This record gives sequence, C-alpha cells and structure tokens, in this order.
Amino acid sequence: MSGCCVFPVIIMIAFMSGSVESELRLSRQGLSDNKLTEGLHGFRVKRGWIWNQLSVEEEDPTPKIIGQLKSTYDTGEFAIRYILSGEGAGEIFNIDEFSGEIHIHKSLDREKKAFYMLHAEAIDRRTGHPVEPESEFIIKVQDINDNAPQFINEPYTSSIPEMSPMGTTVVQVTAIDADDPMFGNNAKLIYSVLQGEPYFSVEPKTGIIVTSWPNIDREASEKYLVVIQVKDMLGSTGGYSATATVTITLTDVNDNGPTFQHNLYTFAIVESAPVGTTVGSVMAEDADVGVNARMNYTLDDLEESATFRVQTDPATQEGIVILARPLDYESKRRFVIAIEAINSFVDTRFLSVNEFRDRTMLKILVMDVDEPPVFSAPFYEWKILENALVGTLVGTVYARDPDAANNSIRFFISNNIELKNIFRIDANNGTVSLVKPLDRETAAWQNLTVIAKETSHPGCKCCGCR
Ligand SMILES: *[C@@H]1O[C@H](CO)[C@@H](O)[C@H](O)[C@H]1NC(C)=O
Ligand SMILES: *[C@@H]1O[C@H](CO)[C@@H](O)[C@H](O)[C@H]1NC(C)=O
Ligand SMILES: *[C@@H]1O[C@H](CO)[C@@H](O)[C@H](O)[C@H]1NC(C)=O
Ligand SMILES: *[C@@H]1O[C@H](CO)[C@@H](O)[C@H](O)[C@H]1NC(C)=O
Repeated sequence: MSGCCVFPVIIMIAFMSGSVESELRLSRQGLSDNKLTEGLHGFRVKRGWIWNQLSVEEEDPTPKIIGQLKSTYDTGEFAIRYILSGEGAGEIFNIDEFSGEIHIHKSLDREKKAFYMLHAEAIDRRTGHPVEPESEFIIKVQDINDNAPQFINEPYTSSIPEMSPMGTTVVQVTAIDADDPMFGNNAKLIYSVLQGEPYFSVEPKTGIIVTSWPNIDREASEKYLVVIQVKDMLGSTGGYSATATVTITLTDVNDNGPTFQHNLYTFAIVESAPVGTTVGSVMAEDADVGVNARMNYTLDDLEESATFRVQTDPATQEGIVILARPLDYESKRRFVIAIEAINSFVDTRFLSVNEFRDRTMLKILVMDVDEPPVFSAPFYEWKILENALVGTLVGTVYARDPDAANNSIRFFISNNIELKNIFRIDANNGTVSLVKPLDRETAAWQNLTVIAKETSHPGCKCCGCR
C-alpha cells in the first residue's frame, strides 16, 4: 500500500430510504423501550445493524475480511444466521453466516466497478424470522493510483502570429485520468513544459499553453515542438505521467523591411535598344513572406530625364528597370539614379523599429553601337550645263560617323560602270567631278548613288580601336 492511501476511512453505510423507514417502523413497533438515537443518517444505531469498515481497496488479490455485519440482537451464541445477497455476493464477497464477517476473494478494479450494492439479512435460526429488517448497503471500492493520465485530442497543432504579446493563448492540452477524482490526488493532474521554454509555458492546472516570450520571431524559427508533461498525484514523485507534443507554427507578420544587397547596381544597355527593353533588375530582400514581402519600387531620377521606369515583378518582387525613352550614346552615356524599395503593406506597429524602405543607387551605362555614316541630306540635286568641261566639280556630298569614334569617311560611286565612266568622286572629301562630257539630249538626268564608308584606323582590324 502506498503512503498516499493514508486517508480517513469513510464508513459507507447507505441505507436506502425505504430501509430506513422500515427500520424506523420496526423500532417503534418491536423495540418499545429503545432509543433510536443518533439520527437517521448517523453511522451507528443503538439497536439494529452494526457494521463498520465496508470499503475495500482495489487491485488487492489477498483474500481477507473487509468488515462484519452484526445485529445488536446477536448475543454471540450463533443464534442468528447472516445472509448476503446482491452484487458480487457469493462470487466476490462471502459472509460467514455465524459471525457476519464479510470475506473478499478477488481483486477488484475500481475503474470497472466503483461500488457493490448488497443486501443483508439476519434470521433467527430458531424461529426463522428476521431479527433485523433486510437492509441494503454498499461496499465501496477504494481507489489506488493505478492509472496513468492520458492526453486526449492528440495531435495538438496550433499557429499564432509571430511577435504576439506575452501571454497569448496558443492551445489547450487535456489529459484524463481514470482514477477516482474524489479520492486523494490520484487523478489530480498537473501540466508542465518539458521542452519549449522559455518561449512557451503551460498553466499547471488547465493545460492552457501561452506565450511567455515577448517577441518570438518567425524569421529565427518558424516551428516549435513543445513537449508537455502531465503528472497525476499533483505532480509528486511516484505518480504517473504522460507527454504530448504540440506543434506550434508561427505565422508571418510584417516585422521586416526591404534591404538592398548592394549599394550600387551597374547595368549597361546599348543605345539602339528600343523603348520597353529591360535594362536589369534589382532585388530588395525581405525576410517576411507573402504580402508582407511585397515591394513597390520607385526611381528617384536625379536629372529627371524620365528615361527609365521601374515596375515590380509580381512573381519575384524584383524591381525591373525598363527603358522609357530612346537612348543616344553620343548625347548621354551614363545615368545615375536612386532607386527605393518600400513594402506595399506596412505594419504601423513596427514603424518605430523599421522604416520598411531602403534606397540604393543605379548606374546605367549606355553602350555605343557602331552606327553607319549619316549623309547631311537624304538626297542632293545638282545642275550642270551639258557643255561643262571634263574636271568640272558637280557638287559635294557630306557624311559623318555618328559614333563617338568619329571615324573618317570614304566615298564611292555605287557599282554602275556607265556612271563611273561619267563621274568621279573624291574618296576623301565627297566632291563629285565630271570625267566625260555630257549630252543633255541623250540623258537629261543622271541618278548617281554614292556610298559612304567608315574607315577604321590603319592596321586595326579587331577590337575596340576607337
Ligand atoms: C504600392 O503600390 C500600390 C499599387 O501601385 C499602391 O496601391 C500602394 O499604395 C503602394 N504602397 C506604398 C506603400 O507605396
Ligand atoms: C569629326 O572629325 C572631323 C575631322 O575629321 C571634324 O571636323 C568634326 O568636327 C568631328 N566631329 C565630331 C562630332 O567630333
Ligand atoms: C576635294 O579635293 C579636290 C582634290 O582632290 C579639290 O579639287 C576639291 O576642291 C576638294 N573639295 C572640297 C569641297 O574641299
Ligand atoms: C532619276 O530619279 C528621278 C527621281 O526619282 C526620276 O524622276 C528620273 O526619271 C531618274 N532618271 C533616270 C535616268 O533614271
């Protein structure tokens, strides 16, 4: 027997109301002089049945005497026969018909049956008449701590927003214990945290898990496995215990702002790129997820040229820099633009610790494209008298290299043998002169196609000779 079972023995005598009345009647009729004292609910009557200990501890296999039925009329001469009937009579409980001692033969399990309802009779052996009214009584099975607590409703999962204030309720765990909740501490349960402190704690009696840390950060750890132990006997040693694991997931709140990974992004784009071309993309990192990581980008074009614009890639939240106006390397080779990222949805609770915006610089270099020479006019129209002398200058075409290299230009008459016999062009300065007399009556018009070609520096055939 464990120490816990030192407990005042409650002698359970439960007269059913009918029995009490009949006893009362019997007392009045048959026992004229006696005093039926101590009240109807008292444990002992002066006349009538006497019994004491009528409870038995469960799980005890030793046969033993658990109590005795005795009538006050029993003079000890075995003149009375005691009879036991009702639940378990004869199987579990036997009565010594002479002494009234009640024996138990079997081990009982309170969790299966907590009490037995029996009837006692006391018969005068001589007359065969009852000397006491038939009475009903209860043998109570007394609890021992033979059941461990068990968690119910497992598995436990919960999710709470990160940064929740301390004391936020997470979830309640519940265990049950089959032992007698009314007897001792056998079924008195106490919850404690085995794993999960200091972030979470549990209310010892209710099993309610609450946060016990002011700013649990999802970005540090998204999932917590909290192990809760429940112990009976109010947690004292020698009791039983059980554990349950609670999976707690933190949901995101916008407690992080964007951060550019570099303080300068350099892009290059060819001057010939059409409007709408993607120049490059920048990414402002945000430790949050979902809407809390959504980003708006803006350009702070220091020269207000409006040559570029930025839009957010909805899938990646990158800032895509796009060409908004045509470029010309020869007029502007370099743009320096500030770019700012700001969270689309700002949580004002965290404005004191976070601006939810970041700024960095963009350098966009315009790359030269080797553009063909450009004539000073789309066409030239010259007039010359038909009797002009050979060698007469007819006119001059002008062309220049639009590239920064400003290569020198050489001029040629296109591959027309007939015209080449009539005109010649100075390859260096574009002056056209006559090499054969003209005849207006043969041809009043001569259409001459001139080709302008850039020349690179002599001996420089490969790369970057400018
Ligand atoms: C971000 O852009 C959206 C749509 O362009 C706009 O509605 C929202 O107000 C912007 N948010 C911020 C913080 O600028
Ligand atoms: C290109 O070079 C020529 C001389 O070869 C010069 O007259 C002209 O001004 C130059 N043009 C530019 C744009 O530098
Ligand atoms: C071009 O060069 C020729 C000599 O080859 C000269 O006669 C002519 O005047 C020049 N033209 C110009 C516009 O300088
Ligand atoms: C030369 O071009 C003009 C204008 O395109 C045209 O009217 C004329 O007939 C052409 N002359 C010859 C000989 O091809």
